[in-house]
Amino acid sequence: MPVNQAPFPATRLRRLRKSPAMRDLVRETHLSVSDLIWPVFVRQGKGEVEPVASMPGVNRYSVDKLVEAAREAQSLGIPAICIFPYTGQEDRTESCELAWDPDNIANRAIAAVKEAVPELAVMTDIALDPYNANGHDGIVRDGIIVNDETVEALVRMALAQAAAGADILGPSDMMDGRIGAMRAALEAEGHHDVAILSYAAKFASAFYGPFRDAVGASAALKGDKKTYQIDPGNRNEALRCVERDLSEGADMVMVKPGLPYLDIARAVKDRFGAPTYAYQVSGEYAMIEAAAQNGWIDGDQAMLESLTAFRRAGCDGVLTYFAPRMAQILNG
Ligand code: PBG
Repeated sequence: MPVNQAPFPATRLRRLRKSPAMRDLVRETHLSVSDLIWPVFVRQGKGEVEPVASMPGVNRYSVDKLVEAAREAQSLGIPAICIFPYTGQEDRTESCELAWDPDNIANRAIAAVKEAVPELAVMTDIALDPYNANGHDGIVRDGIIVNDETVEALVRMALAQAAAGADILGPSDMMDGRIGAMRAALEAEGHHDVAILSYAAKFASAFYGPFRDAVGASAALKGDKKTYQIDPGNRNEALRCVERDLSEGADMVMVKPGLPYLDIARAVKDRFGAPTYAYQVSGEYAMIEAAAQNGWIDGDQAMLESLTAFRRAGCDGVLTYFAPRMAQILNG
């Protein structure tokens, strides 16, 4: 903290706030389009753009429409999108084998976007929930989410996504040992340059509700995810998870959800210095949108303020459903 501050009235901190020009000059934290990763939902069909009811302004795209959206994102200067599949009960089994099918909707979308817009980085989600009959991120045996068998399945899923052309793999499952296993398999298969952005500090959160609707998982999910996602009260445990994932070969790490966990983001950045991202999750997006639609807050201002807060907390970037709208505003 500054120790050289003269007492009032020699120091009047309001001097530097008096006009937009002065405020621009002294602003400490800047948000730019290159800080944004856009999470998108892909579904079956052709020519489909289907609104997600619980996330106003967010759509599920068929692959052809997703390619158009990806092109638009790239032209706005957004560096990366993150693809999530919308699945139905017919895609879900107890053994989750569609998860590593090279032809599943996510892998087809990855390949189509990389083919049409190669400059755009494509990130994926690695977890079994879209393909699991019970909606969990891991394989369930006798009511237990089994760790090691799940990791084997996740490794197959990772290799299929890498083969489809993904630039960044995003393991969001919170099983133990998955980063090391994936990294070893990627190296063994010659995928030396595929990055892993680990959902390292992922909390068991109520803020994922709208997302589970968006991907079709709400009805399938039996119980909660508290045996694998972190308890919201635990800061030290979150830091141990990040340290472990970095030591196993993660290139970048994520804190999730975002705004309620900014203290974790700051601690992760300060302690490890690795590329650090936060996920402004579906519930955070929905809260801002719902309040804005009611006229209770200014949606654009709340969007900018919340995204700036992630940068101030030390994040290198943010996964946000606001990405295209924020990019349009930042681009003027
Ligand atoms: C699935 C996954 C979730 C999210 C990203 N990947 C939901 C969950 O863990 O239940 C949440 C994203 C959001 O809420 O926007 N493993």
